[in-house]
Amino acid sequence: MSSSNGSITISIDGTNKSMSLPLLSGTEGPQVADIRKLYGQMGIFTFDPGYGETASCDSKITYIDGDAGVLMYRGYPIEQLAEHSDFIEVCYLLMNGDLPNAAELKEFRDGVTYHTMVHEQIRRFFDGFRRDAHPMAVMCGVVGALAAFYHDNLDINDAEARRIAAFRLIAKVPTIAAMAYKYALGQPFVYPKNSLSNQPQGYARNFIHMLMSVPAEEYQVPEVLAKAMDRILVLHADHEQNASTSTVRLAGSTGANPFACIAAGIAALWGPAHGGANEAVLKMLADIGDVKNIPAFISEVKDKGSTTKLMGFGHRVYKNFDPRAKIMKESCDEVLAELGVEHEPLLEIARELERIALSDDYFISRKLYPNVDFYSGIILKAMKIPTSMFTVIFAVARTVGWVSQWKELIEDPTQRIGRPRQLYTGPGRRDYVPVTQRG
Ligand code: CMC
Repeated sequence: MSSSNGSITISIDGTNKSMSLPLLSGTEGPQVADIRKLYGQMGIFTFDPGYGETASCDSKITYIDGDAGVLMYRGYPIEQLAEHSDFIEVCYLLMNGDLPNAAELKEFRDGVTYHTMVHEQIRRFFDGFRRDAHPMAVMCGVVGALAAFYHDNLDINDAEARRIAAFRLIAKVPTIAAMAYKYALGQPFVYPKNSLSNQPQGYARNFIHMLMSVPAEEYQVPEVLAKAMDRILVLHADHEQNASTSTVRLAGSTGANPFACIAAGIAALWGPAHGGANEAVLKMLADIGDVKNIPAFISEVKDKGSTTKLMGFGHRVYKNFDPRAKIMKESCDEVLAELGVEHEPLLEIARELERIALSDDYFISRKLYPNVDFYSGIILKAMKIPTSMFTVIFAVARTVGWVSQWKELIEDPTQRIGRPRQLYTGPGRRDYVPVTQRG
């Protein structure tokens, strides 16, 4: 819980109105001014489009220090988790607050494994989609449709019901993601193979098995792919109150069905400014097409009149470096070397863009560094995952973050429906004029 520690006084210039705002301190990070009584006492709201300065909740899950390039899940630095842990253990950590002992980890893994299959009726949904439907559209639809299977008997105020909903989501989202991929290819759906789940990086192995194998042939999940996928999942598992997580919390604050809330998160993630950036990076590299076209592209990015952005660069919070990108870059170099991808033309464009952007004053002065999606897109491409699946993989990873944040919200006795205010700038009061009298 946060503690109250000091206060700040604000006053309205030219009046004798003033009030003291309590300052709250968390475990880490800057103090936060508590403005909950501001309107009641002063009659004013605060204005913060994009919520850049506003804490919308207190949370014990993830901490980011954007200036120092720090990211911690439940206090554990992301670098240590990426090196020593694996995704299923990180899921336990995010959901439960501490690392599990061996028995707890086994029970948790078995719980997730138990729920990996989807109701056979869900297969039928896929027939309604065109084969060329974007898999993120399919994800929004099918994950949201899980609410139709788990609604009437799901009481979100019951801890056991919340726990089972969480297991179902973490377990079924990769199965649905792989089904979306197989449907686009016209290949049969591959069922989860639970013997894979007990191995290190088991969640990632099972996911790759469902993506890559076909029933007619033997398939061994390559070690390099299992490790790379697991690392991508760990690095994307949670990221405090970003756009999609805030969407899940906002939807959850109304008491909505958790499967519908996660579908809302998937929709918010899809945009190119957020999780859609990994797909947008590859599209950008393909559009540039050749290293010789980079100077013209960079000029376009810098042109104030253009909307072109250097995708995979910049972050709302990280202003020195993105710690996930640092780990992902190392992983990227390893994976490319192991897969023998040395002279991939898109990679050459990526390396040159990275070099220019890190030395060009436009990007330096605006603190625009490569973010996690710049490198994850390159790794996924080398793994022969189609571009349209990149954001889907982000959604698979982030589901545990969304679920953990949703549980924290529902379990917070002080939580209220999320309902921002606004600064109204439309017309003042005016009277209705019948259509015959309008000019
Ligand atoms: N390329 C070129 N210019 C940029 C970029 C970019 N990628 N990002 C920001 N800028 C410029 C922006 O035009 C502005 O310039 P000026 O001060 O001259 O008006 C300045 O940098 C500050 O940008 P901002 O719009 O205030 O930054 P923001 O915090 O609102 O946006 C962002 C953050 C991530 C949405 C943005 O940097 C962006 O769109 N990046 C590209 C998309 C991307 O890679 N997104 C993935 C983020 S990491 C994955 C995740 O966590 O979702």
